[in-house]
Amino acid sequence: MERIYSSETIKFIGQKVKLAGWVEVRRDHGKLIFIDMRDRAGIVQLVFIPKDKELHQTADSLRSEWVIEVVGSVNQRPKGMENPNVETGSVEVLVENLVILNESKTPPFEIVAAETQVGEEARLRYRYIDLRRAKMAKNLKERHRIVKFMRDFMDTRDFWEIETPFLTKGTPEGAREFAIPSRLHRGKFYVLPQSPQQFKQLLMVSGVEKYFQVARCFRDEDPRGDRQPEFTQLDIEMSFADENAIMGLTEDLLIELVRKIFPEKKINQTPFPRLTFERAQKEYQSDKPDLRKDKNDANELAFCWITDIPIFEYSQTEKRLVAAHHPFTAPKEEDMELLYGQPEKVRSRAYDIVLNGYEIGGGSVRMHKKEMQEKIFKVLGLNKEEIERKFGHLLEAFEYGAPPHGGIALGIDRLVMLLLNEPNIREVIAFPKTGDGRDLMTDAPNEISKEQLEELGITVKKKIE
Ligand code: AMO
Repeated sequence: MERIYSSETIKFIGQKVKLAGWVEVRRDHGKLIFIDMRDRAGIVQLVFIPKDKELHQTADSLRSEWVIEVVGSVNQRPKGMENPNVETGSVEVLVENLVILNESKTPPFEIVAAETQVGEEARLRYRYIDLRRAKMAKNLKERHRIVKFMRDFMDTRDFWEIETPFLTKGTPEGAREFAIPSRLHRGKFYVLPQSPQQFKQLLMVSGVEKYFQVARCFRDEDPRGDRQPEFTQLDIEMSFADENAIMGLTEDLLIELVRKIFPEKKINQTPFPRLTFERAQKEYQSDKPDLRKDKNDANELAFCWITDIPIFEYSQTEKRLVAAHHPFTAPKEEDMELLYGQPEKVRSRAYDIVLNGYEIGGGSVRMHKKEMQEKIFKVLGLNKEEIERKFGHLLEAFEYGAPPHGGIALGIDRLVMLLLNEPNIREVIAFPKTGDGRDLMTDAPNEISKEQLEELGITVKKKIE
């Protein structure tokens, strides 16, 4: 007999079925034993009657989180015994056969406990148990549906998903980078990508024209509620496209996503309003204004675009001009004359997309000519040698027929967090890091063996406990 999910039992009334899952709760009512059995799809009530002694005894031994397989007949529950809060609350399964597939230690917290009753340390330390909770299982499933929608949408628009390397050279996006020592080239390092930025531009030089990737990105910055050291973007790049083409594509994707997967939600303005950076600052004192009419309405979605973003900003820590988006963003043609005299006044061809006060994406039209790209690097304070060492490969590629191009990246974790009304991106990431960048489950980061260090030619000067 083929196993079915708990949620399917309602379609099998009067029939024999096979189910498998975890014991969530056991309740004994006189001689009757009731088990709430959980699988990926939900919960179903199993009933054991004392008629078959051996079966009854085995059922009596069951404890929370044991893994079982049962065969039994699906019956309508007696009148008044239905549970309207559960999808399968109108039925129960009278068990005829029970196999214990595995036992479980007493779990560190109850799966049905309210989130507030379980400390986050415990949730992350035992994440595999935390993910058994109905809400977390739902979040995983919804995230899957959203990403699947994105892939399908990009495919219908004729984009190709292309993977780009993780072991690479740094690409500046404004954060610190994670470095990976090379064994074969002692003293040299790969850098994990902060985003696939340079590779996607190089793919435009390759003639791919329309690229996307569900891309993992790595940034060594302090995590916060909406930030993780590794996170996922829907990364897009397009040749022969201007701002309007890319913003239009993004807008179509988001509108259709909400319509298909979250029909209960309402987007409060389409096309999405466009605010210049200056106006957003003036009117909302923010570059990510929250334009919702009712902030308590969980179904209101207020998207907006921020445009005309200055190309440079002054970094207080570095005491110099840095790229506001990244150094590949093109300046506005009409502001070019300000480049040397008043660079901070030069506006870029960058755009950010904001949802309910969070930046969920950003992109720009890029430079595709070597001379212009060199000019920007120079204003950023890079000398000839640095430009060559860091970006020589890109500038060289621009000499071989680079088409005009531009793109965008949506922060998938942030978008999913907002669509699922979660307060923190950790709730929509299967295995996230803590606020101080640790994985409590695997205990990463951790020391590596002496032999490994030796092989890599690395000496650790001072350990921080
Ligand atoms: P940007 O740096 O703006 O652009 O990133 C795009 C979007 O990614 C999300 N994001 C993050 N999400 C979680 N944790 C983080 N640490 C984190 N950092 C960023 C945000 C952000 O809007 N290469 C460019 C895109 C381009 O120009 O095409 C880029 O990465 O939602």
